[in-house]
Amino acid sequence: MNTRCGTHTRDEDTRTQNRLKETGNIPVHIAIIMDGNGRWAKQRGLPRIAGHKEGVESVRDIVETCGQVGVQYLTLYAFSTENWKRPKEEVSMLMRLLMRALRDETDKLHQKNVRVHAIGNIQELPQKVQDELLDAIERTKENTGLKLYLALSYSGRWDLTNAIKKIAFEIDSGKINPEQINDQIISQHLSTQGVPDPDLLIRTSGELRISNFLLWQLAYSEIYISDVLWPNFRRNELYEAIDDFQKRERRFGMVSEQLTKKKPQAGYAKRLLKHVSGL
Ligand code: FPP
Repeated sequence: MNTRCGTHTRDEDTRTQNRLKETGNIPVHIAIIMDGNGRWAKQRGLPRIAGHKEGVESVRDIVETCGQVGVQYLTLYAFSTENWKRPKEEVSMLMRLLMRALRDETDKLHQKNVRVHAIGNIQELPQKVQDELLDAIERTKENTGLKLYLALSYSGRWDLTNAIKKIAFEIDSGKINPEQINDQIISQHLSTQGVPDPDLLIRTSGELRISNFLLWQLAYSEIYISDVLWPNFRRNELYEAIDDFQKRERRFGMVSEQLTKKKPQAGYAKRLLKHVSGL
């Protein structure tokens, strides 16, 4: 029996996923700036928190779909350093929502073989959120499927500042000398150490900004801006983003002919990215 899945039936959904997988170029790492929850709520005359709640439904669908199509890393910008400046009421409701989502979803994430990670200044989060987060990280640490990175109290400048401090301390203690600093050393000191840079950055709700997200890591990412507000961004919108990504030519600073000399095969772009990022 066909069950509805968004606006598609489950069969259609499987067909779409298979089509995307057959092209062989599913982004290894997708990073998402989830924007538009407030506008979604406003359009409906609802409080902003209603938009964030519906946003959690999108998180659930996108996480599940990424796992199904074979995305290996998904990084979600769930709460930025700048978000602390929002009205106190909204911040505390967002924290409660986050805590509840972690508590309610960890079992399901575990069943789906998702491994949870967090990046950001986690110590700034309320203790109860930290506890739920650490519990989710601990309980899913043996999972081998999708690696879900939650960026919480995160900003790219925070990440880079920390990395610079760590490198400075290592110079101070004689562990490295300044001449050794290169792309690789910097990447290894960021909170995303060991994670390949995002292939695809998605931002919802039409804004054209990076908003202090993964500033270093997004150097060669393809950017996809969707006009859809985050609470409405579900698997079909993700398929459109992946479709669009698959039509792009990623040159990594080279010329087109250098890429077409060798017939691109499945995994070619991945190997190229690995080579370029030195990971
Ligand atoms: C941006 O919309 C959204 C956020 C600042 C929060 C996003 C958080 C969630 C969707 C919940 C995360 C939950 C988990 C489990 C990761 P906005 O409020 O800036 O919208 P606006 O620009 O329309 O006002």
